Amino acid sequence: MDLELAGKSVIVTGGASNIGRAITLGFAREGAKITIAELDLEQAEKVAAEARELGAAEVQVAQTDITDMAQVQSMVAKAVDNYGGVDVLVNNVGWDDLMFFSQTTPEFWQKIIQINFVGMLNCTYTVLEHIAKSSGAIVSISSDASRQGEPREAVYGGMKAGINSFMKTIAKENGRYGVRCNVVCPGVTVPEETEEVSDGSMWADRGAMFTEDQFEKIAASLPLKKLGRPKDLANAVLFLSSKAVAGHVTGQVLSVSGGYSMIG
Ligand SMILES: NC(=O)c1ccc[n+]([C@@H]2O[C@H](COP(=O)([O-])OP(=O)(O)OC[C@H]3O[C@@H](n4cnc5c(N)ncnc54)[C@H](O)[C@@H]3O)[C@@H](O)[C@H]2O)c1
Repeated sequence: MDLELAGKSVIVTGGASNIGRAITLGFAREGAKITIAELDLEQAEKVAAEARELGAAEVQVAQTDITDMAQVQSMVAKAVDNYGGVDVLVNNVGWDDLMFFSQTTPEFWQKIIQINFVGMLNCTYTVLEHIAKSSGAIVSISSDASRQGEPREAVYGGMKAGINSFMKTIAKENGRYGVRCNVVCPGVTVPEETEEVSDGSMWADRGAMFTEDQFEKIAASLPLKKLGRPKDLANAVLFLSSKAVAGHVTGQVLSVSGGYSMIG
């Protein structure tokens, strides 16, 4: 099936690690022009090289902290100047450190809010006029933690729920320009190899997030009896980014989590 993403200008934030990396490589296989907006320059250059090998029309790295509006503006300008506009924005950056709410601090909340929500606002705000010109798509990566209370992810889950709601409003405000906005919610999604993650990744030390025993228990508890892999999420993002196959889909929140959440 031709997704008609060849030659499209796509920005992937956090596009060098785990899910973001798989999204970058998915667009590369479709022949897109990709801007990887990343903090981790070295890992981003590595993934950019892989993307070129896989057939990306063009790939550039814009070292960006998405929580800094000036850096986001310069990243988006790089995509517009070099690739003629922006057709797709994938808001993929996210971060959490698992703790019960009573163990967190106001400084920790601010970090979670900035990385998971304000960064997404900065990117969406800056890209909107360009996406409107191209009648393009925005796909934001949320989490199943946004759809049901998740112990040790209180503030993160709250920010991800904010993304779900925010994207519906942006979908309604911008549908008149042909812009589509959707959300993908991963469940636990584990890299295949350690080299698939950046140094700043939540998965840089797998054991810090979950033990292997916990992974097995999580998989056993899911209807599909397996953990998510980055490519599972990338496939959903490619689908929602493609006007050819998802041209009438907007304002939706899609869980790709082995059945962890089932929202009617
Ligand atoms: N992996 C999971 O189990 C899981 C589950 C639910 C939701 N998610 C969500 O999926 C998305 C991707 O998760 P992942 O596991 O691939 O994450 P990851 O930690 O492996 O990768 C995140 C990438 O974002 C980059 N980054 C972090 N802060 C940044 C900033 N301020 N500016 C620019 N780049 C920045 C990091 O360098 C890293 O390369 C996130 O939004 C996450 O919240 C992941």
